[in-house]
Amino acid sequence: MAKPILVANWKNHPNSLSEAKTILGQLSRNRLIYKKVSLFIAPPQPYFEIVSLRTKGFARLVSQDMPDFYQGTYTGTVTLDILKSFGVRAAIIGHSESRARGETNEMVSQKTKIALRAGIIPIVCVGESSRDDEGEHFEFLREQLKFSLACLKRKSDLSRLILAYEPVWAIGKRAKSAIGPDDLSETVIFLRKILTDMFGRVAADRVNILYGGSVEPGNASALMKGADIKGFLVGRASLNSKDFLDIAKSLTAK
Ligand code: PGA
Repeated sequence: MAKPILVANWKNHPNSLSEAKTILGQLSRNRLIYKKVSLFIAPPQPYFEIVSLRTKGFARLVSQDMPDFYQGTYTGTVTLDILKSFGVRAAIIGHSESRARGETNEMVSQKTKIALRAGIIPIVCVGESSRDDEGEHFEFLREQLKFSLACLKRKSDLSRLILAYEPVWAIGKRAKSAIGPDDLSETVIFLRKILTDMFGRVAADRVNILYGGSVEPGNASALMKGADIKGFLVGRASLNSKDFLDIAKSLTAK
């Protein structure tokens, strides 16, 4: 993907369809700016249809989760065919809030493989819960990334994979609690080295790496300029139209 990537993770917001329509109206009014980035929107499932309809031509629909099975009848789940019929093009896999509710590295790895086989772009999230001066989080990241991608055997799979580095300690805070550009840069180099060890240099260099965790207009430019990232996965600020637009603008200014 040549353009910078911007993923809006609405999580379980907004609270009503009418609020969702307001956000979509504001996105649509600024479609010319959003067309300068690869925009992905991950709304709650009941909003899939309206998001798909109202962002046609300037955004791609993302599922916040996906099944870890190919076929079967399971109450409370959806199939990839249902997701695809709504126009879902990508899926967030391994978000820390899903991992906290039981999603294991094995499930992440299986979902990633299934997504790739089905033509869905996997947005695989990794991130440590805390950092200390000993640098133990690097070992944690190495293991998490290795096992989260364990099912991938073909180097070509990596060209369609998006990796989102989302340190858990930086999610849902304000910009001042987010990671700084130097630490982000160091971590992204480390993640790419692990990918290189697993899949070789050429394949590893093709992976688009995003950062997520308290991205706001106030820190977006510095993070984008300071590290080898392709863009952002944005939670809270994606529901604030002005903030989200400013973040999009900072991506295109790199
Ligand atoms: P945040 O969320 O931008 O609100 O920190 C990011 C995420 O959880 O994906």
